[in-house]
Amino acid sequence: MSRETGDNLQRNHSHNEPMDRVVDRYLSRRSVLRGSLGAAIAMMAGVGLSGCLDKDGRPRPPQPQLTQPDPVRLGFDSIPGSRTDACVVPPGYSAYVLAPWGTPLNSAARAWQADGGNSADDQANAVGMHHDGMHFFPLNGSAEDGLLVVNYEYIDQKALHPSGPTRDAEGRRPAEEVRKEINAHGVGVLRIRKVGGRWQVMDNDPLNRRFTTASVMELSGPLRGSTHVQTRFSPDGTVTRGTNNNCGNGFTPWGTYLACEENWPNVFINRDASLPEDQRRIGISTARTSYAWETAAGDASEVDEEFARFDITPRGASARDDYRNEASTYGYIVEIDPHDPTTRAVKRTALGRFRHEGCWPGLTEASKPVVFYSGDDAQNEYLYKFVSAAPWDPADANPLDRLATGAKYMDRGTLYVARFNDDGSGVWLSLTPDSLTPEGIPLSALFDDLAGILLNTRGAADALGATPMDRPEWTAVNPLNGDVYLTLTNNSSRTEANAANPRTQNRHGHIIRWHDSADQRSFTWDIFVFGANAGADPALNRSSLTDLNQFASPDGMAFDSRGVLWIQTDNGEKTLTDYTNDQMLAVIPANLTDPQGREVPVNVQNQGELRRFFVGPNGCEVTGLAFTPDNRTMFVNIQHPGNWPYADDATIAAPAGTQVRPRAATVVIQRTDGGELAV
Ligand code: FEO
Ligand code: CA
Ligand code: CA
Ligand code: CA
Repeated sequence: MSRETGDNLQRNHSHNEPMDRVVDRYLSRRSVLRGSLGAAIAMMAGVGLSGCLDKDGRPRPPQPQLTQPDPVRLGFDSIPGSRTDACVVPPGYSAYVLAPWGTPLNSAARAWQADGGNSADDQANAVGMHHDGMHFFPLNGSAEDGLLVVNYEYIDQKALHPSGPTRDAEGRRPAEEVRKEINAHGVGVLRIRKVGGRWQVMDNDPLNRRFTTASVMELSGPLRGSTHVQTRFSPDGTVTRGTNNNCGNGFTPWGTYLACEENWPNVFINRDASLPEDQRRIGISTARTSYAWETAAGDASEVDEEFARFDITPRGASARDDYRNEASTYGYIVEIDPHDPTTRAVKRTALGRFRHEGCWPGLTEASKPVVFYSGDDAQNEYLYKFVSAAPWDPADANPLDRLATGAKYMDRGTLYVARFNDDGSGVWLSLTPDSLTPEGIPLSALFDDLAGILLNTRGAADALGATPMDRPEWTAVNPLNGDVYLTLTNNSSRTEANAANPRTQNRHGHIIRWHDSADQRSFTWDIFVFGANAGADPALNRSSLTDLNQFASPDGMAFDSRGVLWIQTDNGEKTLTDYTNDQMLAVIPANLTDPQGREVPVNVQNQGELRRFFVGPNGCEVTGLAFTPDNRTMFVNIQHPGNWPYADDATIAAPAGTQVRPRAATVVIQRTDGGELAV
């Protein structure tokens, strides 16, 4: 739907082999092996990760089960698609609205006004706009009291202001409007409690907090203090202001939240056409910004060039005299300690600078490194992971100083980018100064040092020959066996097709998964499910989806603690939007097995185990999900709805002819009998 800041355009001009060609060869090798394309597709669809061939062509043994909880099975029936101004859940479930845009977090904010009349100061003390990734942090282990931390990804200017955005005769945006927009972005920490069986926000709780595109944040890791991030605001390059366009999220094993900066380049402009290479590669515009915040520069109320900094055109004698480096302080993973309101957010630069969709931890094991996965969401961009230098110490799970623990595991380590081979294997290429390109050139010769590599992470990944992917969105880690899943939402710039891979343009997307080797340097992969229309040709509908589970553009995705995989969509595929609004499906990969007990992908025999659980209102995207430790409450975000919410009950639509000012919101899903979800 409307994505004012959304820009996933193809900017990869490397000649690295794209994923579609890798898959083509993967399939055609099996065509040769199995004798026909049909068999190749059957094999692709029917033999899972655990069935991948090893390098000698033998089936790989089943992955070890790290934990063995009681197996769960889905206990609800898939619901049909829906196209209404309401949410839909299965019978026996309730869905209600929590913390919509504008909900006051403390008494400094006035109540949300239906005419759009709240001030910038109100907005700084209230829930932001366009909810996305989120995480629930229990307090004292409670399933009924905790902190819900939520990204506010971007804004709908038309809904935010009484009559949309305005400009003066010279084209300048009013400072008050710009500040309101800046304050509607970022992250919120909300104390929430279940009272009488129903969750509510605790107004004025001392842990309630907002981070916006104006909040001062620390820079940490290899870029801290480097010449790349010195600005007039921070001549020593140690701090910056704000986080922006926080899309997917993550969390750490030591109790902090990770916000991920995705479409941040779109708030900056560099009028000097000779862009630095990192700015060209990431997509800084020389012509326009999404909201024209820079036009408020020079307003009499402006403090510390709070608006001027979005115009990064070099103007001063050095980087310390202007904001040429302001955009170099964006594009990172941002660590937040939600438990301590006195702390600043910290940008962990060691995890790379790109359009981070999310950042999900792998399973932790004592004395092994801590691993984080992160996709770069744009056409033909890459999949990354970070491996800590410090081995995991379980005593760090509940530290006194969470951000010091973050520094221990996230400021020193190695960033890798993925290369997928066509035999179901893959390698992680290290983005380090001594790493060699296929031509034998060390990255240090191209990017100087580690800070230079991280600043232009995409460029360094190009040089190493990483595999361009179909828009990597969220990653998820199966708590039962450590398999990692990645949503590849779609890729309209794909034009090549052949008999083995007829999905030109990949309009529906798919979900890939892999398992890393113990040394973290390689992996084996397969494709878990292909999005498709139910009625599509089998060569397109490779997972044999039906009306009850057809989907496109998988995006948000997470496992709950029982091994249920929840998949959310951000659907741009017209033929599917004609059938249903964006949705959330559930599947338990551990239950999809072959006769030998090996996990297999979604296929014609088992596709009924992929079930539609939730459908959102017209115009929305369903994104962001969190669970309480008892799996009796699920939080799901509705972003950019068209005419919703109308009532506290998220399943009630506005009467025909009634238009409400739309508000993104969290939806709380519970079973009406109070039981565990989904089973
Ligand atoms: Fe903000 Fe990639 O979706
Ligand atoms: Ca997304
Ligand atoms: Ca998306
Ligand atoms: Ca999105």
